[in-house]
Amino acid sequence: MTEISLHGRVALVTGGGRGLGEAYCHELARRGAAIVVHDSGTATDGHGHDPEPARNVAASIVAAGGRATACTSDASTEAGGSEAVAVAVRDFGRLDVVVANAGIIHDDQLTDWPTDRFEAVLRHHLLAAFHVIRPAFAVMKAMKYGRLILVSSAAGVFGQPGLTGYAAAKTGMVGLMNVAAIEGAPFGITANGIMPMAGTRMADAIMGEAAQTADGRAFLDTLRVDQVAPVVAYLASEACHETHTVFSAFGGRVAALQVGVTRGWTSPTGTLTAEDVAAHLPEITDPAGLLVPASITDEMAFDV
Ligand SMILES: NC(=O)c1ccc[n+]([C@@H]2O[C@H](COP(=O)([O-])OP(=O)(O)OC[C@H]3O[C@@H](n4cnc5c(N)ncnc54)[C@H](O)[C@@H]3O)[C@@H](O)[C@H]2O)c1
Repeated sequence: MTEISLHGRVALVTGGGRGLGEAYCHELARRGAAIVVHDSGTATDGHGHDPEPARNVAASIVAAGGRATACTSDASTEAGGSEAVAVAVRDFGRLDVVVANAGIIHDDQLTDWPTDRFEAVLRHHLLAAFHVIRPAFAVMKAMKYGRLILVSSAAGVFGQPGLTGYAAAKTGMVGLMNVAAIEGAPFGITANGIMPMAGTRMADAIMGEAAQTADGRAFLDTLRVDQVAPVVAYLASEACHETHTVFSAFGGRVAALQVGVTRGWTSPTGTLTAEDVAAHLPEITDPAGLLVPASITDEMAFDV
């Protein structure tokens, strides 16, 4: 198998100063990409600003012989996202890869989720992705090449108690990816998602006190960032022609999410009552022969 190289490519990794993002930066740099390590250096609750994480990661890539620059703007703002893309073009002359990875966390029961936390979580995940991907998409369209990787989460796609705003934001990343993949296809731009799991400070925050117990640490140690970064390296490469797909990656396993629709039940008369729905629920929910549409028109075109 040919070695996957990123020589000559430029990658922007949001949230690249810590945790999974840091691992993505090192893996992409090791394979030859120039890296914009983008990180505003916030606490897991979104408060504060620290330029050190981004600068440290960029410095360690440069010390190892790679090319990297730090950008410490806040991607959740339009100006901050545009700045990150402008830094890539200014310092390296192009932008081939974006990993929309930045994020924060908050955990509360649904009835207790404060509105300001819900908004903050949406901002730091979904808006932070949008504000970087929109200007990056314009650069990539002009180059007729691009690789977008949007970081989602099983907590959003499948659900996890306590993570209302986080789950909404992370499932929103899949919607953003769907449209970027469809609109990007004519321009050689792929857009894929990743649902990682790794023992980072965010995982510590979600697990709370359990993360500090021996069992908790042992569990988190089985989920390593280096088991996720290779998937991102593949999705970031020219070798990847896959698009519009969300990958689950943790603990050494890689799998693909399928968002499908059952064949369902079609009323022979074209009219429906609530009683019809109740009577035909087994057919409506039967997963046999699941259809996986590539777009809304694709679903409407299925001949079931
Ligand atoms: N750790 C896991 O198990 C896990 C599971 C599923 C998804 N994820 C996702 O992976 C991504 C990385 O998570 P992590 O565990 O490495 O967390 P982390 O807290 O270690 O790193 C997140 C980084 O994002 C930065 N950041 C936050 N908001 C920003 C903004 N607006 N602009 C720029 N930088 C910003 C932070 O400063 C931080 O360095 C997140 O999107 C997270 O939701 C993680």
